[in-house]
Amino acid sequence: MTVERTFIMLKPDAIQRGLAGEIVSRLEKKGFKLVAAKLMRVSRELAEEHYQEHRGKGFFEPTVGYITSSPVLAMVWEGKNIIALARTLMGATNPAQADPGSIRGGLGMDVSRNLIHGSDGAESAAREIGLYFAPEEIVGYEKAGEEWLGE
Ligand code: RTP
Ligand code: MG
Repeated sequence: MTVERTFIMLKPDAIQRGLAGEIVSRLEKKGFKLVAAKLMRVSRELAEEHYQEHRGKGFFEPTVGYITSSPVLAMVWEGKNIIALARTLMGATNPAQADPGSIRGGLGMDVSRNLIHGSDGAESAAREIGLYFAPEEIVGYEKAGEEWLGE
């Protein structure tokens, strides 16, 4: 397992429903380290760039509309094997099918309002972190208790 960084975004429904604290808390309790965060409004241009792999699909326009509709909390988190582990914690794309113990399965009901985004691989993590954050906005530091998370 190697230390990785991933891009995680709390989508507009998470902020509007007052679930930001709960979701950030789950990520913290897992043992992940927060290294960057900002509340922001996603522009149409940025949303289209973010979801470029889905351009042409039926859900592309609604997804861009959703993500630009209200502020999001954009974050970078760090941890061993975090890209895959964060996806597990988030649950399946459709909250109706997600494990009920996961963020999406426990807090959401519909694929069009699935609360959270997480990068799906090393390449997309690097790309998405670069889309949302300048290098100087990412803050590396030693976190208390890291020695208790694994060998
Ligand atoms: P995300 O990128 O947001 O972390 O989600 P994901 O990898 O689990 O799912 P992905 O296939 O990348 O889809 C991106 C986002 O598009 C919306 N979507 N809607 N109506 C639909 O069938 C549908 N499918 C996808 C969701 O907001 C999904 O998170
Ligand atoms: Mg995705």
